[in-house]
Amino acid sequence: MAKKLCIKTYGCQMNVYDSGRMADLLAPLGYATTDEAAEADLVILNTCHIREKAGEKVYSDVGRLRNLRAERMAAGGAPLTIAVAGCTAQAEGEEIMRRAPAVDLVVGPQAYHRLPELIARAHRSKGEALDTEFPAESKFDHLPQQSRVEGTAAFLTIQEGCDKFCTFCVVPYTRGAETSRPVAAVLAEAAHLARLGAQEITLLGQNVNAYHGEAPEGGAPWSLGRLAHALAEVPGIARIRYTTSHPRDMDDELIAAHGTLPALMPFLHLPVQSGADRILEAMNRRHTADDYRRLVERLRQARPDLALSSDFIVGFPGESEKEFQATLDLAAEIGFAQAYSFKYSPRPGTPASMMADSLSEDVKSERLARLQAVIADGQRRFNDACVGRTMPVLFDRPGRHEGQLIGRSPYMQAVHAEVPAALSGRILDVTIESAHPNSLGGRLAADPAEAAA
Ligand code: 5AD
Ligand code: SF4
Repeated sequence: MAKKLCIKTYGCQMNVYDSGRMADLLAPLGYATTDEAAEADLVILNTCHIREKAGEKVYSDVGRLRNLRAERMAAGGAPLTIAVAGCTAQAEGEEIMRRAPAVDLVVGPQAYHRLPELIARAHRSKGEALDTEFPAESKFDHLPQQSRVEGTAAFLTIQEGCDKFCTFCVVPYTRGAETSRPVAAVLAEAAHLARLGAQEITLLGQNVNAYHGEAPEGGAPWSLGRLAHALAEVPGIARIRYTTSHPRDMDDELIAAHGTLPALMPFLHLPVQSGADRILEAMNRRHTADDYRRLVERLRQARPDLALSSDFIVGFPGESEKEFQATLDLAAEIGFAQAYSFKYSPRPGTPASMMADSLSEDVKSERLARLQAVIADGQRRFNDACVGRTMPVLFDRPGRHEGQLIGRSPYMQAVHAEVPAALSGRILDVTIESAHPNSLGGRLAADPAEAAA
């Protein structure tokens, strides 16, 4: 009988990609996926460690699963295997085994190709199934191909790990040193995803624009700019995105690609973290606020309709009101189409966690609210400015009303329009007529018969 697998995914898009790959890996072992932990034989918690709240989540989740298992066993039901994967597994593997003995196995983000073996080991004996190594072999060489693409968009991990060592960040410790997948492997996976129906590919990496993949025919490694050009040639791939980028790694080739490669979407996630140079220095970001401004300027020269998104941290150790104000000013000045913002959270083992965390929770909360108001304002302005523009929309979902489809704009906005269902899966020009907090409304620029031609 088919076994059931439930994967709960936290954190970033890389974890979403990894969860998909774990499901692909376990399918040949007879595991069908389910969204319900209650009906699963195996639950994998794919965890995030980026902030304290994320890191602590695993313990409450395991507690709930332990109760579920106890109830089920009491009712004579099937056993439940509890696995912890992802970045908290990597950072706290041993501690998880100790603090949460209900956990049967722990696997780090670089070792999940060994899951079948770990599951077998966990079923044989308790307490030995922990693998948080950074193996010499690449997991990518041991994973089966993806079995399906949902809708028209897919993620493709091309790079992992980080050598930047921002002083607040756990990623260099949880995902390890920077590595890039070879160009040939990336192109083969993109072609496979396209055959499964993907038209839009988001290239993933913790530091994706530091990509330097082995060239297909020897020679110098390829940069992300060069890779993007090759990916645009893959039949079926119409749109390319990439995330997350570090400002320091936006090289000339990549900036130029935004001007010359129409498939490269004009929407870039480029975290800045702070607008104050002293804080950027303490964060070891290796760029100033003006470096960031100049970079945005160059990007907009290459691609005038480029929109930006960002990440911010408020309340970094020692951040003064004046320094926070510089962050507000930068956010308002750049005018982000969207941005994420977080209260600083000290993470064990990071250099910043050794600095005096001088700001009270109240001050952090108050600053966060002020920044979020500026960000929301920028987002509203950007969405409003879309009204009247005509832009290509990739339609792939039915809308709420009969005769409507929902698609994605180049800027990742959801766009509703009256579109015949037969045109789902097509990229169509839409004139935007209305802007709402989380979506846009519009009408097809050409009549549907023409659009279908
Ligand atoms: N505290 C708060 N936010 C953090 N981020 C990373 N580490 C921390 C931390 N210790 C934020 C950064 C990063 C995003 C993924 O999470 O803004 O870009
Ligand atoms: Fe969280 Fe970072 Fe790990 Fe993604 S890479 S899951 S954001 S800790």
